[in-house]
Amino acid sequence: REIIFRDVVDSTNTLAKQVAADGAPEGTVIVAEQQNGGKGRLDRHFFSPAGKGIWFSVILRPPFLPQEAPKCTLLAAVAVAMGMERFGLKAGIKWPNDILYENKKLVGILTEMSAEMDGINYVVIGTGINVNIMAEDFPEELRATATSLSIMNGGKPLPRVKFFQAVLEAMDELYDAVKREGFAPVMAAWRRYSITLGQEVRVIGVRDGDVFTGRAADIDEDGALLVDTPSGRRRVLAGDVSIRP
Ligand code: BTN
Repeated sequence: REIIFRDVVDSTNTLAKQVAADGAPEGTVIVAEQQNGGKGRLDRHFFSPAGKGIWFSVILRPPFLPQEAPKCTLLAAVAVAMGMERFGLKAGIKWPNDILYENKKLVGILTEMSAEMDGINYVVIGTGINVNIMAEDFPEELRATATSLSIMNGGKPLPRVKFFQAVLEAMDELYDAVKREGFAPVMAAWRRYSITLGQEVRVIGVRDGDVFTGRAADIDEDGALLVDTPSGRRRVLAGDVSIRP
């Protein structure tokens, strides 16, 4: 497979979209030591300091419909969770795709896509893993909400390259399984790692800005979150979910 490595980029997702538009094959990986303009969901900035994390994007050209693309994000979260398990770290996924430890973010995923009505041109799955960032390395405004694998690991650094290999292997295995038998096994694995299901949650809808609370009951076959509220079950396809303490 082709791996494009850069010391510094604006965003690996932006570079991945460029090379994908230029015809890069499925499976191409873009990885950088540092991002100056790391992008998060909902137009947020993603802190991506040099040498301390794994900031990467994978190009896929999946043979399914654009509606199915959000499930690729679930796949990426499960792959990172499986990688963590191989290093003895227990992962909890918050819907749809944040990996948290003690309610702070370890991993963020941003999926971008180019598609027509009848098919996907490419999907870029961008994953940022906070590996060897110490608490004092985080800017003040992130300290309450961000953490890292090394903090989780009792202050011991993790081997970044080995960890990255484990995650890419898990992604390959899961994606091959999806092409053979669909998303059901990925969804089942996602449910096992989920820390959202069964919890009381507060949802801010992305499309309508609507805010409501309820109990996260399950995900459906599209990966949408099903929330039971006093006025009935609501389906959340895109939104910001917080678990209520
Ligand atoms: C989020 O938590 O809001 C998503 C964060 C996604 C960050 C990754 S780092 C690699 C890739 N390149 C980017 O600019 N963003 C994603």
